[in-house]
Amino acid sequence: MHLVYLLSVFLHILAATAWVGGMVVLIAVLVPWLRRGDRAKAAVVLRETATRLRDIGWICFAVFAVTGGFNLWVRGVRLSSFLQPAFLASPFGQTVCYKLGLFVLILGLSALHDFWVGPRAARILEAQPQSPEAEIWRRRAGRMGRLNAVLALLIVFVGVMLVRGRPW
Ligand code: HEM
Repeated sequence: MHLVYLLSVFLHILAATAWVGGMVVLIAVLVPWLRRGDRAKAAVVLRETATRLRDIGWICFAVFAVTGGFNLWVRGVRLSSFLQPAFLASPFGQTVCYKLGLFVLILGLSALHDFWVGPRAARILEAQPQSPEAEIWRRRAGRMGRLNAVLALLIVFVGVMLVRGRPW
């Protein structure tokens, strides 16, 4: 059983590195480089690479849900725990709730960005790269992507607190 638990934590952290790593590459490497080149070509490259990163991201979300749920189970958390005031008042219980709340927020924001705002921005940027509308959707997609990156750093920190306790 302990080996299964270790593998679950291993997969959980691996998924975190793949997901956060993909965002870093997109935000800090690809987008700044593409901004210097031809806009229409940049939109094609961005659409192709972002679509692949999106698929990897959603695979990571499935891994987080399964391994995270199992990790909680190993730590004695059950669905009924969320009905117990003592659990909800405990530092660990509260950290679990922060983490699950952040996860739901990230899922919602990612769904909006990955399946609506992002693809729409890419389509308009390819069709009319210099139009004001392209600029509006490009900024919208960029802001949502960066907000998700901030939430990603936050949920990783909450994950660390889940294991080692929070500082307050
Ligand atoms: C975006 C999603 C998530 C990210 C990036 C993430 C990240 C992490 C990281 C980096 C750790 C390791 C902390 C450490 O050992 O220092 C961790 C631990 C943990 N996470 Fe997540 N997590 C996510 C979602 C979830 C979800 C949805 C759950 C519950 C359903 C969950 C439950 C846990 C548990 C229980 C641990 C402690 C593992 C242990 O027992 O050592 N996580 N998480």
